[in-house]
Amino acid sequence: MTLPTVTSRVDDLLARMTLEERIGQITQVDRTAITPEEVAEYAIGSVLSGGGGNPEPNTPTAWRAMVDSYVEASRRSRLGVPLLYGTDAVHGHNNVVGATIFPHNIGLGAAGDPALVRAIGRATAIETAATGARWTFAPTVAVPQDPRWGRTYEGYGQDPALVARLGTALVDGLQGDAEVIDVLACAKHFIADGATTYGTTGGAQWVEWWQRSYSIPNWRIDQGDARIDEATLRSVHLPAYHEVVGRGVGSVMASYSSWNGVKVHGHRWLLTELLKGELGFEGFVVSDYVAVDQLSPDYREAVVTALEAGVDMVMVPFDHTRFRETVREVVLAGELSEERLNDAVRRILRVKDAMGLLDGQEPALPHPSVLGASDHRALARRAALAGAVLLADAHDVLPLTGTPNVLLAGAAADDVGLACGGWTIEWSGRRGAITPGRTLADGLRDHLGGSLAVTGATAEDLSPLDQMAAEVGVVTVHEEPYAEGMGDTATLVLDAAQQALVARVAEVVDRVILVVYAGRPLVLGPALDHADAVVVAWLPGSEADGLADLLVGAAPFRGRLPVDWPAADPAPDAGPPQDQAPRWRRGHAHGVAG
Ligand code: BGC
Repeated sequence: MTLPTVTSRVDDLLARMTLEERIGQITQVDRTAITPEEVAEYAIGSVLSGGGGNPEPNTPTAWRAMVDSYVEASRRSRLGVPLLYGTDAVHGHNNVVGATIFPHNIGLGAAGDPALVRAIGRATAIETAATGARWTFAPTVAVPQDPRWGRTYEGYGQDPALVARLGTALVDGLQGDAEVIDVLACAKHFIADGATTYGTTGGAQWVEWWQRSYSIPNWRIDQGDARIDEATLRSVHLPAYHEVVGRGVGSVMASYSSWNGVKVHGHRWLLTELLKGELGFEGFVVSDYVAVDQLSPDYREAVVTALEAGVDMVMVPFDHTRFRETVREVVLAGELSEERLNDAVRRILRVKDAMGLLDGQEPALPHPSVLGASDHRALARRAALAGAVLLADAHDVLPLTGTPNVLLAGAAADDVGLACGGWTIEWSGRRGAITPGRTLADGLRDHLGGSLAVTGATAEDLSPLDQMAAEVGVVTVHEEPYAEGMGDTATLVLDAAQQALVARVAEVVDRVILVVYAGRPLVLGPALDHADAVVVAWLPGSEADGLADLLVGAAPFRGRLPVDWPAADPAPDAGPPQDQAPRWRRGHAHGVAG
Protein backbone atom coordinates (compact mmCIF):
# COMPACT_ATOMS: atom_id res chain seq x y z
CA MET A 1 0.00 0.00 0.00
CA THR A 2 1.29 3.49 -0.76
CA LEU A 3 0.02 6.79 0.55
CA PRO A 4 -2.84 8.05 -1.61
CA THR A 5 -2.32 11.35 -3.36
CA VAL A 6 -3.44 14.57 -1.71
CA THR A 7 -7.18 14.86 -2.08
CA SER A 8 -9.07 18.10 -2.59
CA ARG A 9 -10.25 17.59 1.01
CA VAL A 10 -6.73 18.30 2.25
CA ASP A 11 -6.18 21.45 0.21
CA ASP A 12 -9.66 22.65 0.92
CA LEU A 13 -9.19 22.23 4.65
CA LEU A 14 -5.76 23.82 4.59
CA ALA A 15 -7.16 26.86 2.82
CA ARG A 16 -9.73 27.33 5.58
CA MET A 17 -7.31 27.05 8.49
CA THR A 18 -6.18 30.09 10.42
CA LEU A 19 -2.52 30.49 11.27
CA GLU A 20 -3.27 29.33 14.83
CA GLU A 21 -5.08 26.23 13.59
CA ARG A 22 -2.20 25.32 11.30
CA ILE A 23 0.21 25.71 14.20
CA GLY A 24 -2.05 23.56 16.39
CA GLN A 25 -1.95 20.86 13.73
CA ILE A 26 1.85 20.52 13.91
CA THR A 27 1.82 20.44 17.73
CA GLN A 28 2.11 17.16 19.64
CA VAL A 29 1.65 17.33 23.41
CA ASP A 30 2.24 14.82 26.19
CA ARG A 31 -1.12 13.90 27.69
CA THR A 32 0.09 14.99 31.14
CA ALA A 33 0.55 18.54 29.83
CA ILE A 34 -2.81 19.17 28.19
CA THR A 35 -6.52 18.79 28.88
CA PRO A 36 -9.17 17.79 26.34
CA GLU A 37 -10.59 21.34 26.59
CA GLU A 38 -7.24 22.82 25.53
CA VAL A 39 -7.07 20.34 22.64
CA ALA A 40 -10.39 21.72 21.36
CA GLU A 41 -9.44 25.34 21.98
CA TYR A 42 -6.07 25.21 20.22
CA ALA A 43 -6.99 22.62 17.56
CA ILE A 44 -4.06 20.43 18.62
CA GLY A 45 -2.94 17.91 16.00
CA SER A 46 -1.67 15.15 18.26
CA VAL A 47 -1.41 13.97 21.87
CA LEU A 48 0.87 11.20 23.08
CA SER A 49 1.50 8.83 25.92
CA GLY A 50 5.26 8.49 26.35
CA GLY A 51 6.74 5.34 27.93
CA GLY A 52 4.57 4.62 30.98
CA GLY A 53 2.12 7.44 30.14
CA ASN A 54 -0.74 5.42 31.58
CA PRO A 55 -4.12 6.36 33.00
CA GLU A 56 -5.11 5.41 36.52
CA PRO A 57 -6.17 2.63 36.76
CA ASN A 58 -4.05 1.17 33.99
CA THR A 59 -6.74 -0.92 32.31
CA PRO A 60 -7.77 -1.24 28.66
CA THR A 61 -11.09 0.51 29.35
CA ALA A 62 -9.46 3.40 31.21
CA TRP A 63 -7.07 3.78 28.27
CA ARG A 64 -9.97 3.88 25.85
CA ALA A 65 -11.79 6.47 27.92
CA MET A 66 -8.64 8.62 28.16
CA VAL A 67 -7.86 8.50 24.44
CA ASP A 68 -11.50 9.00 23.47
CA SER A 69 -11.74 12.10 25.64
CA TYR A 70 -8.94 13.74 23.61
CA VAL A 71 -10.16 12.56 20.22
CA GLU A 72 -13.71 13.73 20.95
CA ALA A 73 -12.40 17.09 22.12
CA SER A 74 -10.51 17.54 18.84
CA ARG A 75 -13.73 16.88 16.94
CA ARG A 76 -15.26 19.81 18.83
CA SER A 77 -12.56 22.22 17.57
CA ARG A 78 -13.73 24.78 14.99
CA LEU A 79 -12.87 22.65 11.96
CA GLY A 80 -13.21 19.34 13.79
CA VAL A 81 -9.97 17.80 12.51
CA PRO A 82 -9.47 14.69 14.68
CA LEU A 83 -6.17 14.40 16.49
CA LEU A 84 -3.81 11.48 16.26
CA TYR A 85 -3.16 9.76 19.59
CA GLY A 86 0.35 8.31 19.56
CA THR A 87 2.00 5.80 21.84
CA ASP A 88 5.01 3.51 21.97
CA ALA A 89 3.41 0.16 21.18
CA VAL A 90 6.85 -1.21 20.37
CA HIS A 91 6.45 -4.87 21.40
CA GLY A 92 2.71 -5.12 21.60
CA HIS A 93 0.68 -2.34 23.24
CA ASN A 94 3.22 -2.58 26.01
CA ASN A 95 2.11 0.25 28.32
CA VAL A 96 -1.20 -1.41 29.09
CA VAL A 97 -1.60 -3.96 31.88
CA GLY A 98 -3.14 -7.03 30.28
CA ALA A 99 -1.88 -6.39 26.73
CA THR A 100 -0.02 -9.11 24.87
CA ILE A 101 3.70 -8.44 25.18
CA PHE A 102 5.69 -9.72 22.21
CA PRO A 103 9.46 -10.30 22.21
CA HIS A 104 11.58 -7.21 21.70
CA ASN A 105 12.85 -6.76 18.17
CA ILE A 106 16.25 -8.37 18.66
CA GLY A 107 14.44 -11.67 19.30
CA LEU A 108 12.30 -11.18 16.22
CA GLY A 109 15.50 -10.55 14.27
CA ALA A 110 16.76 -13.92 15.55
CA ALA A 111 13.54 -15.54 14.34
CA GLY A 112 13.98 -13.76 10.99
CA ASP A 113 10.44 -14.46 9.84
CA PRO A 114 8.60 -11.59 8.08
CA ALA A 115 5.24 -13.40 8.20
CA LEU A 116 5.56 -13.68 11.97
CA VAL A 117 6.42 -9.98 12.32
CA ARG A 118 3.56 -9.02 10.07
CA ALA A 119 1.16 -11.03 12.24
CA ILE A 120 2.58 -9.32 15.33
CA GLY A 121 1.95 -5.97 13.62
CA ARG A 122 -1.68 -6.98 13.02
CA ALA A 123 -2.22 -8.08 16.61
CA THR A 124 -0.52 -4.94 17.93
CA ALA A 125 -2.68 -2.78 15.67
CA ILE A 126 -5.83 -4.45 16.99
CA GLU A 127 -4.84 -4.06 20.65
CA THR A 128 -3.67 -0.47 20.14
CA ALA A 129 -6.76 0.61 18.20
CA ALA A 130 -8.94 -1.02 20.87
CA THR A 131 -7.70 1.63 23.27
CA GLY A 132 -8.54 4.37 20.76
CA ALA A 133 -4.93 5.08 19.75
CA ARG A 134 -4.22 4.83 16.03
CA TRP A 135 -0.54 5.71 15.92
CA THR A 136 2.41 3.78 17.27
CA PHE A 137 6.01 4.92 17.30
CA ALA A 138 7.23 1.70 15.71
CA PRO A 139 9.07 0.05 14.06
CA THR A 140 12.57 0.91 15.19
CA VAL A 141 14.66 0.21 12.13
CA ALA A 142 17.99 1.00 13.73
CA VAL A 143 20.96 -1.15 12.76
CA PRO A 144 22.80 -1.28 16.10
CA GLN A 145 26.56 -1.47 15.75
CA ASP A 146 27.68 -1.46 19.38
CA PRO A 147 25.85 -3.61 21.98
CA ARG A 148 26.83 -1.18 24.73
CA TRP A 149 23.97 0.92 23.34
CA GLY A 150 20.91 0.70 25.59
CA ARG A 151 18.59 0.51 22.59
CA THR A 152 20.26 -2.51 20.97
CA TYR A 153 17.21 -4.69 21.66
CA GLU A 154 14.89 -2.26 19.88
CA GLY A 155 16.61 -3.09 16.59
CA TYR A 156 16.12 -6.31 14.65
CA GLY A 157 19.86 -6.84 14.24
CA GLN A 158 22.99 -5.90 12.37
CA ASP A 159 22.04 -7.05 8.88
CA PRO A 160 20.58 -4.07 7.00
CA ALA A 161 18.59 -6.34 4.67
CA LEU A 162 17.02 -8.21 7.61
CA VAL A 163 16.11 -4.93 9.32
CA ALA A 164 14.51 -3.70 6.10
CA ARG A 165 12.53 -6.92 5.64
CA LEU A 166 11.22 -7.08 9.19
CA GLY A 167 10.61 -3.33 9.50
CA THR A 168 8.52 -3.46 6.35
CA ALA A 169 6.62 -6.47 7.64
CA LEU A 170 5.71 -4.59 10.82
CA VAL A 171 4.58 -1.55 8.84
CA ASP A 172 2.41 -3.82 6.68
CA GLY A 173 0.90 -5.44 9.74
CA LEU A 174 0.23 -2.18 11.59
CA GLN A 175 -1.09 -0.10 8.72
CA GLY A 176 -3.01 -3.01 7.19
CA ASP A 177 -3.79 -3.55 3.55
CA ALA A 178 -7.22 -1.97 3.36
CA GLU A 179 -7.84 1.33 1.57
CA VAL A 180 -7.62 3.14 4.87
CA ILE A 181 -4.56 3.03 7.14
CA ASP A 182 -5.50 1.16 10.27
CA VAL A 183 -2.82 2.10 12.77
CA LEU A 184 -0.20 4.55 11.59
CA ALA A 185 3.36 3.24 11.82
CA CYS A 186 6.40 5.41 12.52
CA ALA A 187 9.82 4.29 11.34
CA LYS A 188 12.45 5.54 13.78
CA HIS A 189 14.91 7.01 14.53
CA PHE A 190 15.99 8.58 11.26
CA ILE A 191 18.90 8.02 10.72
CA ALA A 192 21.92 6.06 11.98
CA ASP A 193 20.76 6.08 15.62
CA GLY A 194 22.49 2.71 15.87
CA ALA A 195 25.80 4.02 14.59
CA THR A 196 26.76 6.43 17.34
CA THR A 197 30.26 6.27 18.75
CA TYR A 198 30.66 5.28 22.40
CA GLY A 199 31.57 8.31 24.48
CA THR A 200 29.96 10.93 22.26
CA THR A 201 26.70 11.51 24.18
CA GLY A 202 26.47 14.82 25.87
CA GLY A 203 25.85 18.45 25.50
CA ALA A 204 22.10 18.29 25.81
CA GLN A 205 20.93 19.73 29.09
CA TRP A 206 18.40 17.03 29.77
CA VAL A 207 20.93 14.23 29.21
CA GLU A 208 23.15 15.86 31.82
CA TRP A 209 20.20 16.40 34.14
CA TRP A 210 19.21 12.74 33.84
CA GLN A 211 22.77 11.58 34.31
CA ARG A 212 23.04 13.57 37.55
CA SER A 213 19.58 12.95 38.97
CA TYR A 214 19.46 9.25 38.32
CA SER A 215 23.22 8.67 38.54
CA ILE A 216 23.54 7.11 35.12
CA PRO A 217 27.17 7.84 34.40
CA ASN A 218 27.10 5.30 31.61
CA TRP A 219 24.84 7.29 29.32
CA ARG A 220 27.66 7.49 26.81
CA ILE A 221 26.38 6.32 23.42
CA ASP A 222 22.61 6.82 23.11
CA GLN A 223 21.87 10.16 21.42
CA GLY A 224 25.55 10.41 20.46
CA ASP A 225 27.32 11.18 17.20
CA ALA A 226 27.40 8.76 14.25
CA ARG A 227 30.86 9.24 12.82
CA ILE A 228 30.39 7.45 9.55
CA ASP A 229 30.78 8.43 5.93
CA GLU A 230 27.93 8.85 3.49
CA ALA A 231 28.61 5.50 1.83
CA THR A 232 28.10 3.71 5.18
CA LEU A 233 25.06 5.79 5.96
CA ARG A 234 23.56 4.72 2.66
CA SER A 235 24.57 1.07 2.67
CA VAL A 236 23.84 0.23 6.32
CA HIS A 237 21.32 2.70 7.72
CA LEU A 238 19.26 3.85 4.74
CA PRO A 239 17.96 0.59 3.18
CA ALA A 240 15.21 0.07 5.78
CA TYR A 241 13.87 3.59 5.22
CA HIS A 242 13.94 3.02 1.51
CA GLU A 243 11.78 -0.06 1.93
CA VAL A 244 9.29 1.30 4.45
CA VAL A 245 8.81 4.50 2.49
CA GLY A 246 8.11 2.41 -0.60
CA ARG A 247 5.54 0.55 1.46
CA GLY A 248 3.70 3.71 2.44
CA VAL A 249 4.81 4.27 6.02
CA GLY A 250 3.00 7.42 7.05
CA SER A 251 5.41 8.83 9.61
CA VAL A 252 9.11 8.87 10.41
CA MET A 253 10.67 10.01 13.69
CA ALA A 254 13.91 11.96 13.63
CA SER A 255 16.80 10.72 15.77
CA TYR A 256 18.18 12.55 18.79
CA SER A 257 21.61 11.60 17.52
CA SER A 258 23.95 13.55 15.25
CA TRP A 259 25.66 12.71 12.01
CA ASN A 260 29.26 13.88 12.04
CA GLY A 261 28.52 16.53 14.61
CA VAL A 262 25.22 17.87 13.23
CA LYS A 263 22.00 16.96 15.04
CA VAL A 264 19.61 15.06 12.77
CA HIS A 265 16.73 17.25 13.95
CA GLY A 266 18.44 20.23 12.37
CA HIS A 267 19.85 18.44 9.34
CA ARG A 268 18.09 19.71 6.27
CA TRP A 269 19.97 17.49 3.84
CA LEU A 270 19.00 14.35 5.73
CA LEU A 271 15.36 15.18 6.44
CA THR A 272 14.39 17.14 3.38
CA GLU A 273 16.72 16.22 0.57
CA LEU A 274 17.45 12.58 1.34
CA LEU A 275 14.23 11.39 3.03
CA LYS A 276 11.58 13.52 1.39
CA GLY A 277 13.39 14.25 -1.87
CA GLU A 278 15.46 11.28 -2.88
CA LEU A 279 13.40 8.60 -1.10
CA GLY A 280 10.14 10.31 -1.99
CA PHE A 281 8.68 10.17 1.54
CA GLU A 282 5.28 11.85 1.43
CA GLY A 283 4.18 11.31 5.02
CA PHE A 284 5.31 13.53 7.91
CA VAL A 285 8.41 13.72 10.09
CA VAL A 286 7.81 13.91 13.84
CA SER A 287 10.50 15.10 16.21
CA ASP A 288 11.48 13.07 19.27
CA TYR A 289 10.58 13.93 22.87
CA VAL A 290 12.13 17.33 23.81
CA ALA A 291 14.57 16.84 20.94
CA VAL A 292 13.96 20.21 19.31
CA ASP A 293 15.07 21.94 22.53
CA GLN A 294 18.46 20.30 22.10
CA LEU A 295 19.21 22.24 18.94
CA SER A 296 19.92 25.55 20.61
CA PRO A 297 19.65 27.19 24.04
CA ASP A 298 17.61 29.81 22.16
CA TYR A 299 14.21 28.13 21.76
CA ARG A 300 13.17 30.36 18.89
CA GLU A 301 16.27 29.40 16.95
CA ALA A 302 15.78 25.73 17.84
CA VAL A 303 12.22 25.73 16.51
CA VAL A 304 13.12 27.48 13.26
CA THR A 305 16.09 25.17 12.70
CA ALA A 306 13.99 22.02 13.16
CA LEU A 307 11.05 23.13 11.04
CA GLU A 308 13.29 24.50 8.29
CA ALA A 309 15.28 21.26 8.30
CA GLY A 310 12.10 19.29 7.62
CA VAL A 311 10.47 18.36 10.93
CA ASP A 312 6.70 18.55 10.33
CA MET A 313 5.19 17.73 13.73
CA VAL A 314 6.92 18.68 16.97
CA MET A 315 6.72 16.36 19.98
CA VAL A 316 6.89 19.41 22.20
CA PRO A 317 5.95 17.64 24.54
CA PHE A 318 5.20 19.83 27.58
CA ASP A 319 5.00 23.61 27.11
CA HIS A 320 2.70 23.78 24.11
CA THR A 321 1.90 27.43 24.75
CA ARG A 322 5.54 28.40 24.37
CA PHE A 323 5.83 26.28 21.23
CA ARG A 324 2.68 27.63 19.59
CA GLU A 325 3.56 31.22 20.41
CA THR A 326 7.11 30.79 19.16
CA VAL A 327 5.96 29.41 15.82
CA ARG A 328 3.45 32.24 15.49
CA GLU A 329 6.16 34.81 16.13
CA VAL A 330 8.66 33.34 13.70
CA VAL A 331 6.08 33.04 10.94
CA LEU A 332 4.90 36.62 11.45
CA ALA A 333 8.52 37.80 11.54
CA GLY A 334 9.27 35.96 8.32
CA GLU A 335 11.89 33.74 9.98
CA LEU A 336 9.93 30.64 9.01
CA SER A 337 8.17 30.70 5.67
CA GLU A 338 4.46 30.09 5.57
CA GLU A 339 5.12 27.77 2.67
CA ARG A 340 7.15 25.47 4.96
CA LEU A 341 4.46 25.60 7.64
CA ASN A 342 1.79 24.77 5.08
CA ASP A 343 3.83 21.91 3.68
CA ALA A 344 4.10 20.44 7.20
CA VAL A 345 0.36 20.81 7.78
CA ARG A 346 -0.46 19.35 4.37
CA ARG A 347 1.67 16.30 5.09
CA ILE A 348 -0.07 15.71 8.42
CA LEU A 349 -3.53 16.21 6.92
CA ARG A 350 -2.69 13.92 4.07
CA VAL A 351 -1.87 11.12 6.50
CA LYS A 352 -5.04 11.83 8.48
CA ASP A 353 -6.95 11.65 5.22
CA ALA A 354 -5.33 8.31 4.43
CA MET A 355 -6.54 7.13 7.85
CA GLY A 356 -10.12 8.03 7.01
CA LEU A 357 -10.16 10.87 9.52
CA LEU A 358 -11.19 13.69 7.21
CA ASP A 359 -14.22 12.11 5.61
CA GLY A 360 -15.62 9.99 8.43
CA GLN A 361 -14.28 6.78 6.86
CA GLU A 362 -12.24 5.66 9.84
CA PRO A 363 -12.43 1.96 10.64
CA ALA A 364 -14.55 0.84 13.58
CA LEU A 365 -12.39 0.38 16.68
CA PRO A 366 -12.15 -3.06 18.28
CA HIS A 367 -13.47 -3.51 21.83
CA PRO A 368 -10.93 -3.08 24.67
CA SER A 369 -11.63 -6.66 25.77
CA VAL A 370 -9.43 -7.80 22.85
CA LEU A 371 -6.26 -6.89 24.76
CA GLY A 372 -4.41 -10.05 25.67
CA ALA A 373 -6.72 -12.18 23.49
CA SER A 374 -5.78 -15.84 23.49
CA ASP A 375 -4.86 -15.90 19.79
CA HIS A 376 -2.54 -12.90 20.33
CA ARG A 377 -0.92 -14.62 23.30
CA ALA A 378 -0.50 -17.81 21.26
CA LEU A 379 1.26 -15.72 18.61
CA ALA A 380 3.55 -14.15 21.23
CA ARG A 381 4.36 -17.62 22.54
CA ARG A 382 5.28 -18.75 19.04
CA ALA A 383 7.45 -15.68 18.61
CA ALA A 384 9.27 -16.23 21.93
CA LEU A 385 10.03 -19.74 20.85
CA ALA A 386 11.05 -18.79 17.32
CA GLY A 387 13.59 -16.21 18.47
CA ALA A 388 15.51 -18.23 21.06
CA VAL A 389 18.95 -19.23 19.83
CA LEU A 390 20.82 -22.32 20.92
CA LEU A 391 24.35 -20.97 21.17
CA ALA A 392 26.12 -24.11 22.35
CA ASP A 393 25.34 -27.65 23.41
CA ALA A 394 28.71 -29.28 23.74
CA HIS A 395 27.46 -32.43 25.43
CA ASP A 396 24.09 -32.84 23.76
CA VAL A 397 22.28 -32.05 26.98
CA LEU A 398 19.26 -30.88 25.06
CA PRO A 399 16.54 -31.78 24.70
CA LEU A 400 15.64 -32.72 28.26
CA THR A 401 13.95 -36.01 27.58
CA GLY A 402 13.66 -38.67 30.23
CA THR A 403 15.66 -36.61 32.74
CA PRO A 404 14.40 -37.67 36.18
CA ASN A 405 15.36 -34.51 38.04
CA VAL A 406 15.60 -30.95 36.80
CA LEU A 407 16.24 -27.97 38.98
CA LEU A 408 15.43 -24.41 37.97
CA ALA A 409 17.21 -21.34 39.32
CA GLY A 410 17.62 -17.64 38.50
CA ALA A 411 15.23 -14.73 38.98
CA ALA A 412 14.19 -14.46 35.33
CA ALA A 413 12.96 -18.07 35.29
CA ASP A 414 9.73 -17.01 36.95
CA ASP A 415 9.48 -13.25 36.48
CA VAL A 416 7.31 -11.65 33.80
CA GLY A 417 8.91 -8.22 34.19
CA LEU A 418 12.41 -9.54 33.54
CA ALA A 419 11.17 -11.49 30.53
CA CYS A 420 9.57 -8.35 29.07
CA GLY A 421 12.42 -5.87 29.64
CA GLY A 422 12.16 -2.13 29.03
CA TRP A 423 9.13 -0.39 27.49
CA THR A 424 6.76 -2.56 29.50
CA ILE A 425 4.08 -0.92 31.67
CA GLU A 426 6.73 1.65 32.62
CA TRP A 427 9.28 3.36 30.40
CA SER A 428 12.15 1.31 31.80
CA GLY A 429 10.11 -1.78 32.62
CA ARG A 430 10.46 -3.37 36.04
CA ARG A 431 10.96 -6.72 37.72
CA GLY A 432 7.95 -8.62 39.01
CA ALA A 433 4.41 -9.56 38.10
CA ILE A 434 3.81 -6.23 36.36
CA THR A 435 1.30 -7.66 33.89
CA PRO A 436 -0.31 -11.07 33.35
CA GLY A 437 1.94 -13.54 31.59
CA ARG A 438 3.53 -16.95 31.76
CA THR A 439 7.14 -17.77 32.49
CA LEU A 440 9.70 -20.43 31.69
CA ALA A 441 8.90 -21.96 35.09
CA ASP A 442 5.23 -22.27 34.10
CA GLY A 443 6.17 -23.95 30.83
CA LEU A 444 8.62 -26.37 32.42
CA ARG A 445 6.08 -27.25 35.10
CA ASP A 446 3.58 -28.14 32.37
CA HIS A 447 6.07 -30.41 30.65
CA LEU A 448 7.99 -31.91 33.56
CA GLY A 449 5.50 -31.96 36.41
CA GLY A 450 6.96 -33.55 39.53
CA SER A 451 10.46 -34.02 38.14
CA LEU A 452 11.00 -30.25 38.16
CA ALA A 453 12.13 -28.37 41.26
CA VAL A 454 11.56 -24.64 40.98
CA THR A 455 14.13 -23.62 43.58
CA GLY A 456 13.56 -19.89 43.75
CA ALA A 457 17.35 -19.47 44.04
CA THR A 458 18.54 -16.15 42.66
CA ALA A 459 21.79 -14.21 42.55
CA GLU A 460 20.58 -12.42 45.68
CA ASP A 461 19.81 -15.64 47.55
CA LEU A 462 21.65 -18.86 46.82
CA SER A 463 20.42 -20.61 49.97
CA PRO A 464 17.54 -22.55 48.33
CA LEU A 465 20.25 -24.59 46.61
CA ASP A 466 21.65 -25.89 49.91
CA GLN A 467 21.05 -29.62 50.24
CA MET A 468 19.72 -29.82 46.68
CA ALA A 469 20.91 -32.00 43.87
CA ALA A 470 19.64 -32.86 40.40
CA GLU A 471 20.86 -34.31 37.14
CA VAL A 472 20.26 -31.12 35.23
CA GLY A 473 20.12 -27.52 36.35
CA VAL A 474 18.45 -24.89 34.20
CA VAL A 475 19.74 -21.50 35.33
CA THR A 476 18.67 -18.14 33.99
CA VAL A 477 20.76 -14.99 34.01
CA HIS A 478 19.39 -11.61 33.03
CA GLU A 479 19.79 -7.88 32.69
CA GLU A 480 17.71 -5.60 34.88
CA PRO A 481 15.16 -3.84 32.63
CA TYR A 482 16.20 -0.55 31.05
CA ALA A 483 15.27 1.84 28.28
CA GLU A 484 17.27 4.19 26.07
CA GLY A 485 20.43 5.78 27.52
CA MET A 486 19.70 4.30 30.93
CA GLY A 487 20.68 1.00 29.35
CA ASP A 488 23.99 2.23 27.98
CA THR A 489 26.74 0.26 29.64
CA ALA A 490 30.49 0.39 29.88
CA THR A 491 30.70 -3.38 30.22
CA LEU A 492 28.90 -6.32 28.66
CA VAL A 493 30.34 -8.73 31.24
CA LEU A 494 27.83 -10.72 33.28
CA ASP A 495 27.96 -9.45 36.87
CA ALA A 496 29.71 -11.31 39.68
CA ALA A 497 26.57 -12.19 41.63
CA GLN A 498 25.04 -13.98 38.65
CA GLN A 499 28.38 -15.68 37.93
CA ALA A 500 28.27 -16.98 41.50
CA LEU A 501 24.74 -18.28 40.99
CA VAL A 502 25.77 -20.24 37.90
CA ALA A 503 28.83 -21.60 39.71
CA ARG A 504 26.71 -22.67 42.67
CA VAL A 505 24.17 -24.43 40.43
CA ALA A 506 27.07 -26.23 38.74
CA GLU A 507 28.10 -27.61 42.13
CA VAL A 508 24.76 -29.31 42.77
CA VAL A 509 23.91 -30.69 39.31
CA ASP A 510 25.62 -32.87 36.74
CA ARG A 511 24.87 -30.68 33.78
CA VAL A 512 24.03 -26.99 33.44
CA ILE A 513 21.78 -25.35 30.88
CA LEU A 514 22.28 -21.60 30.88
CA VAL A 515 19.39 -19.45 29.61
CA VAL A 516 20.24 -15.79 28.99
CA TYR A 517 17.52 -13.14 29.18
CA ALA A 518 19.06 -10.00 27.75
CA GLY A 519 18.53 -7.20 25.29
CA ARG A 520 21.97 -7.72 23.79
CA PRO A 521 24.81 -10.21 23.77
CA LEU A 522 26.59 -10.49 27.13
CA VAL A 523 30.16 -11.55 27.78
CA LEU A 524 29.43 -14.64 29.86
CA GLY A 525 32.92 -15.30 31.24
CA PRO A 526 33.24 -18.23 33.68
CA ALA A 527 29.48 -18.90 33.45
CA LEU A 528 30.18 -20.14 29.95
CA ASP A 529 32.72 -22.65 31.26
CA HIS A 530 30.15 -24.02 33.71
CA ALA A 531 27.47 -24.39 31.06
CA ASP A 532 26.98 -27.54 29.01
CA ALA A 533 24.38 -25.81 26.87
CA VAL A 534 23.68 -22.11 26.35
CA VAL A 535 20.43 -20.60 25.09
CA VAL A 536 19.72 -16.91 24.56
CA ALA A 537 16.04 -16.08 25.01
CA TRP A 538 16.52 -12.30 24.48
CA LEU A 539 13.51 -10.49 26.00
CA PRO A 540 10.78 -12.99 25.14
CA GLY A 541 7.76 -11.10 26.51
CA SER A 542 4.66 -12.16 28.38
CA GLU A 543 4.53 -15.68 26.95
CA ALA A 544 7.98 -16.93 27.87
CA ASP A 545 6.60 -20.35 28.79
CA GLY A 546 7.08 -21.18 25.09
CA LEU A 547 10.80 -21.52 25.78
CA ALA A 548 10.11 -24.70 27.71
CA ASP A 549 8.96 -26.40 24.49
CA LEU A 550 12.47 -25.92 23.15
CA LEU A 551 14.20 -27.26 26.23
CA VAL A 552 12.13 -30.45 26.31
CA GLY A 553 12.31 -30.97 22.55
CA ALA A 554 8.63 -30.37 21.84
CA ALA A 555 9.76 -27.77 19.29
CA PRO A 556 13.08 -27.32 17.46
CA PHE A 557 15.42 -24.35 17.94
CA ARG A 558 15.24 -22.19 14.84
CA GLY A 559 16.67 -18.83 15.90
CA ARG A 560 19.98 -17.50 14.63
CA LEU A 561 22.12 -14.74 16.07
CA PRO A 562 21.06 -11.43 14.50
CA VAL A 563 24.17 -9.72 15.93
CA ASP A 564 27.78 -10.69 16.55
CA TRP A 565 28.30 -12.03 20.08
CA PRO A 566 31.48 -10.44 21.45
CA ALA A 567 34.13 -12.52 23.20
CA ALA A 568 35.23 -9.70 25.48
CA ASP A 569 34.50 -6.11 26.37
CA PRO A 570 35.80 -3.55 23.94
CA ALA A 571 38.50 -1.26 25.26
CA PRO A 572 36.88 1.79 26.89
CA ASP A 573 35.84 4.43 24.38
CA ALA A 574 37.18 2.36 21.52
CA GLY A 575 35.25 1.22 18.49
CA PRO A 576 32.50 -1.35 18.62
CA PRO A 577 33.32 -4.89 19.74
CA GLN A 578 33.03 -6.18 16.18
CA ASP A 579 36.60 -4.96 15.81
CA GLN A 580 37.68 -8.08 17.73
CA ALA A 581 36.91 -11.64 16.71
CA PRO A 582 33.47 -12.36 18.18
CA ARG A 583 32.72 -15.42 20.31
CA TRP A 584 29.95 -16.30 17.88
CA ARG A 585 29.24 -14.59 14.61
CA ARG A 586 25.98 -13.19 13.37
CA GLY A 587 24.02 -16.05 11.81
CA HIS A 588 25.36 -18.59 14.32
CA ALA A 589 23.07 -21.25 15.76
CA HIS A 590 24.35 -24.50 17.23
CA GLY A 591 23.29 -27.48 15.20
CA VAL A 592 21.17 -25.52 12.74
CA ALA A 593 22.41 -26.04 9.21
CA GLY A 594 23.87 -22.94 7.52
C1 BGC B 1 12.15 7.90 22.43
C2 BGC B 1 11.24 7.52 21.28
C3 BGC B 1 9.81 7.48 21.74
C4 BGC B 1 9.43 8.80 22.38
C5 BGC B 1 8.00 8.88 22.84
C6 BGC B 1 11.64 9.10 23.22
O1 BGC B 1 12.32 9.22 24.43
O2 BGC B 1 13.44 8.16 21.92
O3 BGC B 1 11.65 6.29 20.75
O4 BGC B 1 8.97 7.16 20.67
O5 BGC B 1 10.27 9.02 23.50
O6 BGC B 1 7.76 8.12 23.96
